[in-house]
Amino acid sequence: MDARDYFGYKNPDEEPGGQDPADEADDSRPPLFEEAVTLDDVAAVRRIDPDDMLGRVADLPRQLAEAGKVAETVTLTERHTDVDGVVVLAMGGSAIGADLVAAAAGERLRVPLVVHRDYGLPPGTGARTLVIAASHSGETAETLSGFAAARGRDLPLAVITTGGRLAAGASEGGLPLLRYKLGGQPRAAIGFGVGLVHELLSRAGLFTDADPLGPAAAAVEALLERIGPSVETAANPAKQLAWSIFGRIPVIYGHGPMAAVAHRWKTQLNENAKAWAAFEPMPEANHNAIEGSLNPRELAHGLYVVQLRDREEPDEIAERYRVVDELLGERATNHGEVWAEGPSALARVLTTVAYGDLVSVYLAILYQTDPTPVTLLAMLKERLARATGSDPTGAT
Ligand code: F6R
Repeated sequence: MDARDYFGYKNPDEEPGGQDPADEADDSRPPLFEEAVTLDDVAAVRRIDPDDMLGRVADLPRQLAEAGKVAETVTLTERHTDVDGVVVLAMGGSAIGADLVAAAAGERLRVPLVVHRDYGLPPGTGARTLVIAASHSGETAETLSGFAAARGRDLPLAVITTGGRLAAGASEGGLPLLRYKLGGQPRAAIGFGVGLVHELLSRAGLFTDADPLGPAAAAVEALLERIGPSVETAANPAKQLAWSIFGRIPVIYGHGPMAAVAHRWKTQLNENAKAWAAFEPMPEANHNAIEGSLNPRELAHGLYVVQLRDREEPDEIAERYRVVDELLGERATNHGEVWAEGPSALARVLTTVAYGDLVSVYLAILYQTDPTPVTLLAMLKERLARATGSDPTGAT
């Protein structure tokens, strides 16, 4: 297995996803009725989702449990625990886990946590900063660059990965290494992404009071029983939401912990459904985004606003949502809401993540698009690697 296996793209010269001019005429014809799929047609779903991204969503609770076990094997020194800040170096599907953990913990996290999605290190990173380099493949250029900078400065460093150059660097430097086993796409490793960061911070004593992983996993399982693939559309609100979004651009609103979840929805809609999507944090969205649904006029009905709601949201935020609903309704902007559920903040974050993950795969199926490969993302990595002369697989 090499890093390309994670992205569903093997041969740089074939450049899958490129347009064959011979296909163009075909693409412009309207779809035939008998080609339309329903989300309840098991054979059609299997044909469109051959690598079972739907099944990957259901793997979240197992990954959380496994993450707890992996974290138990790691030894931290005082340098890792006596810190006044945390920096997580990560990109894409490997970065959002830390955002979700910090968002769920809120003020229960004793120190500020910054997720750095760029090359190098963010300003202010110093000897009392715990640096966590997280990359599913262990081969992401930006993450490797920050990791090298942190190693060069001998900062307190820990690594989360399945392998690659990051695992090799961690072993070589004798660093705490949370290594997990999972093939497939990085974004489908979200249970590890959340669970490992959560348990690492917990073992470092950086929470005043951590939510346990077990009940959060149980809440996700209970939700999946109600909105999973085997529940027919008529009784399945996640499938119904995918139908509502179908043919429109989704804009996801969220407040506090739900803002981080809205970000996850956006990236899953991008990568699974291969669709444009946006997310808007509340209450900031009230100061700009609310105005942006008018033009271009012919697209005004082409939006679908999803509000991610949390029973613990402050009253003033609930009131804002009430007024936003009113205004969107008066302008006939399509919108709906999804309520977080579960016994803790972490559980509410993870159930809403699982909900969005499923909606994004259902939407991919409606678009008759295989949710798993991220061809453009892989092509981009290949072309950059070729241009800079480095091999993203680490093979050379
Ligand atoms: C692909 C995905 C991407 C990757 C990102 C970084 O499924 O989620 O957003 O996470 O390109 O790669 P890794 O996670 O290997 O560091």
